[in-house]
Amino acid sequence: MFANRYFPATRLRRMRRDDFSRRLMRENVLTTNDLIYPVFVLEGEGREQAVTSMPGVVRQSLDKLLFTAEDALQLGIPMLSIFPVIETGKDNSGKEAYNPDGLVPTVVRELKARFPELGIMTDLALDPYTIHGQDGLLDDSGYVLNDETTEVLVQQALCHAEAGADVLGPSDMMDGRIGAIRSALEEDGYIHTKILAYSAKYASAFYGPFRDAVGSAANLGKADKYTYQMDPANLDEAIQEVAMDLEEGADMVMIKPGMPYLDVIRRIKDTFKVPTYAYQVSGEYAMLKAAFQNGWLDEEKCMMESLLAFKRAGADGILTYFALDAARLLRR
Ligand code: PBG
Repeated sequence: MFANRYFPATRLRRMRRDDFSRRLMRENVLTTNDLIYPVFVLEGEGREQAVTSMPGVVRQSLDKLLFTAEDALQLGIPMLSIFPVIETGKDNSGKEAYNPDGLVPTVVRELKARFPELGIMTDLALDPYTIHGQDGLLDDSGYVLNDETTEVLVQQALCHAEAGADVLGPSDMMDGRIGAIRSALEEDGYIHTKILAYSAKYASAFYGPFRDAVGSAANLGKADKYTYQMDPANLDEAIQEVAMDLEEGADMVMIKPGMPYLDVIRRIKDTFKVPTYAYQVSGEYAMLKAAFQNGWLDEEKCMMESLLAFKRAGADGILTYFALDAARLLRR
């Protein structure tokens, strides 16, 4: 029957045949400890709004967010990342960003009082607070000013640290801001406040649904963020960004977006061997959700596969809008 039969020297399928051997040789695992849950918070009370372009994601006022936070904590999710929807106090100086009685500090204080073990991260950038929707202050030509913006970010960082934020996430891409924030924190005695630098943040069109969620899309209009966020064509530049942020005092670094940038995650993890995070951004979530809703992709399987891919690429953790769903699945 098998004339001149060739026998494969190695049968890789041998180890794949049984569940026990598949488990024995598995190289990466996703656990709940890998998840950071981004949440959108509204001013006021008793409010909850669906985000149309992100099915399953809501904006909530603090009273409702407390239930979400409790769920996350009970599921074992280590940290929430807070994104505010600012309705009062927007201007072009960004001063609402460091109002101690503003939305974010209020939410942080309440969350830390109720759930001290739950890590709370805040975003440092001015886009939720500016009328034009850019992450920083503009000059007359519309250029985002670097050093002037950094000054405001430092105020924002101190305000969030004072409120009790555990981790600050500068997502603005100004040069030198990590160093400026770190030395201000040290000077004021906030030596335990961690910095998760959005180091390699690309000027991506995958942020569209997020800008709807925080309400900066309409303000931003046709404007773009090319003068400060990275060109999606570049990889070496990401290395330089991360090197700079680490030298300036970042504890953790982030690559953003996630799935289209797995090569960047791997390169950064291999180069620096520091805590490295990926942000599976709003557009990635929207894309997957749309396919799930149409019945074109299997929701549970594709969600988990997409998250595991980050682990394989070298990420220590993932900011993902799937965090609650994934944690529930992992618990089963
Ligand atoms: C803004 C910020 C953005 C995101 C997080 N922080 C959007 C932007 O840079 O325009 C995007 C997150 C997402 O798309 O899920 N500083």
